[in-house]
Amino acid sequence: MSNKQNSPSASPSHLSIIRPDDWHLHVRDNEGLKAVVPFTAKQCGRAIIMPNLTPPVTTTDQARVYQQAILDAAGKQSSFQPLMTLYLTDSTPAQEIQTAMESGIISAVKLYPAGATTNSDAGVTDIRKCYQTLEMMQKLGLPLLVHGEVTSHDIDIFDREKQFIDQRLESLIKDFPELKVVFEHITTADAANFVIESSPNIAATITAHHLLMNRNDMLVGGIKPHHYCLPVLKRETHRKALVKAAISGNNKFFMGTDSAPHSKHNKETACGCAGMFTAFAAIELYAEAFDEAGALDKLEQFSSLNGPLFYGLDANSDKITLRREEWTVPDSYQFGDDVVIPLRAGQTINWKLVSES
Ligand code: DOR
Ligand code: ZN
Repeated sequence: MSNKQNSPSASPSHLSIIRPDDWHLHVRDNEGLKAVVPFTAKQCGRAIIMPNLTPPVTTTDQARVYQQAILDAAGKQSSFQPLMTLYLTDSTPAQEIQTAMESGIISAVKLYPAGATTNSDAGVTDIRKCYQTLEMMQKLGLPLLVHGEVTSHDIDIFDREKQFIDQRLESLIKDFPELKVVFEHITTADAANFVIESSPNIAATITAHHLLMNRNDMLVGGIKPHHYCLPVLKRETHRKALVKAAISGNNKFFMGTDSAPHSKHNKETACGCAGMFTAFAAIELYAEAFDEAGALDKLEQFSSLNGPLFYGLDANSDKITLRREEWTVPDSYQFGDDVVIPLRAGQTINWKLVSES
């Protein structure tokens, strides 16, 4: 990484890093997809595309159609590569994993515990029902991406990630010791420690919003529906632990925005959807978090090197440049026939993507 410094201190005015990838992204479908894909295509070489559409992307054939729609939205000039995933259900056949591997277009399989989050109703009700499929994934080296929260009504929402580790993840990993697993969008010190202590085939993504905010940002001074996501923001001690993990240089942690756009109408309502829209300024938000921690020199490893290493891919071959510059985020962006409210709407971000090469 090269920093053109305007002072000898650790606060450069520019930052040039290998082009990042987003290892966890929601781009929706139809008109919404056309609106949001260009943001990621401008910043990232690749993105792991979440399959929680309605209906979910459960087969390789569906993923192929979805991938083409994303490529069309990125535009002919773009070299952006959408890396597709399959949505695991109780009845995903092991044969589908073979088909997925042979196709060369599927990079992973996503486990949503049924009822855990947006469009997870078709998710897994009992992981034991998936054991033959997981066996095949382990054998063929296809990673499992995990939404790590239990769903029982009697478990407090702030404890659901920790409970998932204790009740589900530990035994899953014991039963499939060679399976590659990404613990997605971790939000607790417990999850960070679990990943650190696990074998090299267990990694985690961390979102920019979980590095930048804690639950006060959602609940103090009035409820902020645009700061509601799942897993929900946690207390400050957990945010600090996530920052520590992200800047540690440990190659198990990498960038995954979990940018999850919902229309304004679906967020600002009595029962609002979970998700924050961050893709419009993904790398800028991460830069801010790393800058705040005095660790800009660790950003490239997290955003551009650790992910490809885990997935067995080369890092991107080009670079992007960021400039330290305060800019005001628009109040909204068009999103199909509604708008989406971006994170920091009407407020500022301290870094700006200025060149893509
Ligand atoms: O906040 C979230 N939004 N968390 C998820 O797990 C799903 C996502 C979505 O699809 O809206
Ligand atoms: Zn997600």
